[in-house]
Amino acid sequence: MDIFRIEGPVRLAGKVAVSGSKNAALPIMAAAILAPGESIVRGVPQLADIAVLTQLLGALGAKVQRGEGSELRIDASVIDNPIGPYDIVRKMRASICILGPLLARCGSAKVSMPGGCAIGDRPVDIHLRGLRALGAEIHLENGYIIAETPHGLKGKDIFLGGPFGSTVLGTANILMAATLAKGTTTIESAACEPEITDLAYCLNKMGAKIRGIGSPRLVIDGVDRLKPADHTIIGDRVEAGTFMVAAAITAGRVELKNCRLGDMMAVVDKLAGIGVCIEPTADGCIVSRDGPLTPADITTQPYPGFPTDLQAQFMALLALADGNSVITEKIFPDRFMHVAELNRMAARLRKEGPSVIIAGVKKLIAAPVMASDLRASAALVLAALAARGTTVINRVYHIDRGYEHIEKKLNALGAKITRKSV
Ligand code: EPZ
Repeated sequence: MDIFRIEGPVRLAGKVAVSGSKNAALPIMAAAILAPGESIVRGVPQLADIAVLTQLLGALGAKVQRGEGSELRIDASVIDNPIGPYDIVRKMRASICILGPLLARCGSAKVSMPGGCAIGDRPVDIHLRGLRALGAEIHLENGYIIAETPHGLKGKDIFLGGPFGSTVLGTANILMAATLAKGTTTIESAACEPEITDLAYCLNKMGAKIRGIGSPRLVIDGVDRLKPADHTIIGDRVEAGTFMVAAAITAGRVELKNCRLGDMMAVVDKLAGIGVCIEPTADGCIVSRDGPLTPADITTQPYPGFPTDLQAQFMALLALADGNSVITEKIFPDRFMHVAELNRMAARLRKEGPSVIIAGVKKLIAAPVMASDLRASAALVLAALAARGTTVINRVYHIDRGYEHIEKKLNALGAKITRKSV
């Protein structure tokens, strides 16, 4: 198991290239199931989660190869084993995004229920509601979702909203299944995340007929077949936001490349309010901070609201603000595993139901801390960059799930991070 040793405080400066989006790559890799033949997905980051889905696609019968650099070649000519086994699915909840494509391609699927994780329950009831609306017959057996479409998939008007608003991978599953359904499907309360928009554009390049892309209402005219994809993934807005916070928390100046500010308006708005300067550039922005950090009130929401995937990182930043801030988590109410660990570093955070009250402190102090989930771990790295002393972060495999070579990228900006196997 690896640990990080991080010396602080440091001030970051320089340029960093944002990798391709994990959360766009995963559903787009699953979309390759829809079309016999070889799909090419470009800009796919080298991440543990990508490796898990690669393993899963192989188990289904596809052949996945890494081309040069960040290219993935997925040959889905043969999909003869539509089963997502528990020992793979349990490693990554996003594996559920194979369900819709398998039903559309094979007419049946057996996929393990994802189960919960550190950020909370990961129910899939809305996924199943949407697929049943398209004509799938689904029951649960021994922890598996058993789905069949004895009469094929038929287009339908479907409301896909839930108690926490839209569902990102639920939208992906229904969208992918609807591309090959007979007739027209309308998805009302579809997720509008840029990763879903990227998936929809990729599907249309494969021959799908999707309208309303980027809006909460997607209209899909089913087609008989799709052709393999050739698609370049968008930049990862969560990695970009994480590096923006890294520049801000160290009072540095960092240029981000391959970063689409248009996908991050809620984040840029909050950073500006906190006193961080964001200068747009041709393919990204320059982030700097030289004054005090102003407190903020943040509530996470579905896109275009403030993303839950940057909640922990902003909590680390606001721990050093001049005054009290509040962060309210409306998507995953239990997504606060980082609170206790940040408090070990002398932050003053107090959980009140779905909110955390943040009393700003003058400085954070290095400490041994435990990574718990992907974005909480990123928050600990950010806090360690600003903290006085050497912080040790245990279980950094959580970080490797979603950040490509994070210590290499940060060290190139002036961080002092060493990875050690223990
Ligand atoms: C995607 O997860 C992302 N993962 C998550 O990023 C992200 O936090 C989340 O969307 C919200 O933006 C990928 O794209 C691979 P949801 P997803 O379905 O699709 C509830 C990261 O750090 N819900 O949009 O699984 C659910 O419990 C990861 O990169 C139901 O109630 O999330 C949650 O409260 C973590 N029933 C809310 O909806 C359902 O059937 C939003 O979840 C589905 C979801």
